[in-house]
Amino acid sequence: TRNTPNLNQPREQWGTRFGFMLAAAGSAVGLGNIWRFPFVVGEGGGAAFVLLYLGFVLLIGLPLIIGEISIGRKGRSNAMDSYKVIQPNSKWYLNGFIGVIVNFMILSFYSVISGWALYYFILALTGNLLANEKNYENAFGGFITDPIMPIVWQALLMSIVVLIVLRGVKKGIEKWNNILMPTLFVLLIILVFKSTSLENAQEGLQFFLQPDFSAINSGVILAALGQAFFSLSLATGMYVTYGSYKRNENSIVGNAGGIVFLDVFVAILAGLIIFPAVFHYGIDPGRGPDLVFITFPYIFTDMPFGTIFAVVFFFFVFVSALTSAISLLEVVVAFVKEKFNLSRKVAAPVTGIVITTVGAFTALSFGPLSHITLFDLTIFGLFDFIAAQVLIPFSGFLLCIFLGWVWKPHEVKLEVEKEGNKFPLFKLWSFLIRYVIPVVLLVIFLDSIGIL
Ligand code: PHE
Repeated sequence: TRNTPNLNQPREQWGTRFGFMLAAAGSAVGLGNIWRFPFVVGEGGGAAFVLLYLGFVLLIGLPLIIGEISIGRKGRSNAMDSYKVIQPNSKWYLNGFIGVIVNFMILSFYSVISGWALYYFILALTGNLLANEKNYENAFGGFITDPIMPIVWQALLMSIVVLIVLRGVKKGIEKWNNILMPTLFVLLIILVFKSTSLENAQEGLQFFLQPDFSAINSGVILAALGQAFFSLSLATGMYVTYGSYKRNENSIVGNAGGIVFLDVFVAILAGLIIFPAVFHYGIDPGRGPDLVFITFPYIFTDMPFGTIFAVVFFFFVFVSALTSAISLLEVVVAFVKEKFNLSRKVAAPVTGIVITTVGAFTALSFGPLSHITLFDLTIFGLFDFIAAQVLIPFSGFLLCIFLGWVWKPHEVKLEVEKEGNKFPLFKLWSFLIRYVIPVVLLVIFLDSIGIL
């Protein structure tokens, strides 16, 4: 029928056994771990927030990732059409459409922050980032409030993303990820040692690791949930799309576990580096989105070979942002391409230009447009809030109902267990998906809008 995607065409598959794992981890690990996690922990009052986030990752994130990959591998189509393959005469594909909107919104501001990272990498590379006696608050503040420069860097960053998506080449990125991710881990671990040996490190570690449960309120709970989803790239259609290229012989549960582990690992390392330094240099942990860009330069200034560390570090921030931005753009491009019958060569730049234009307003909301607010949020804050704390959890809720009550757990099990793979703890998974996760999500929602 008209609505059913063509299944006769041979479908692309990942090049190596690790192709899916690396690409999905490349999407998950990004600014969400290194830039967003520290500042939302700071705003959320520290360790209690971290515990909530970890709970959500394990209880909600991991089971949903398993389900989302299964939808993609079963459907073997894009984020929307995979639902159509599984449930042909239903409206469930609309949940895939929410994903497209979410990717659009996230990339709008994600491209801005990635542009900041690119700028800091170039500054470090040209030796203009670090200086003794430098006030990094002012230096960074001057940059992001400028009416032009942040948009120039955002556009530059987006051009790179568009070029990569336009070619449709995942191989290069796959290979780069292969080398860069392990190097990133080594670098982060060195920085953890440096940071935790600073004076007053104790105070920062306490803030990050010793929970004060009185800091928890409905806003904090929703923020922790949003962070868990955002950081895992969950319920955005990414796992469906990337999963649709996955080989049957690779374990879905194993890959999901690996992705979750890597994602949490990087976030925790980032926290262990940031918070000791934040307290050491007397920076306010709740200061918001510029936290990382201010704290790291202080650490590097105080380190032997700091300049080299700064170059390498901001290069990695840039690259990990890039691999996430690619996945964000690809979900939208795949959709635009099909719906408007355009070639990839047209769809990628057109989508890129529209997103950059919309995103420029979020860039300006740190400077000239900072006075425009709604519910106390700037344009950037509003985009981030609607995507991470409203649409993604809502879409996650629908995903859960779809898996648990529409497609049904035993069907998911059949998909997961293809080629002799195991589905450990299936009973628990099924129970979580059907009863626990939907209720938890619903309660958090009603609570955050003040109904409970
Ligand atoms: N998970 C990515 C990060 O942490 C951001 C992202 C969200 C990417 C949603 C794709 C989809 O940086």
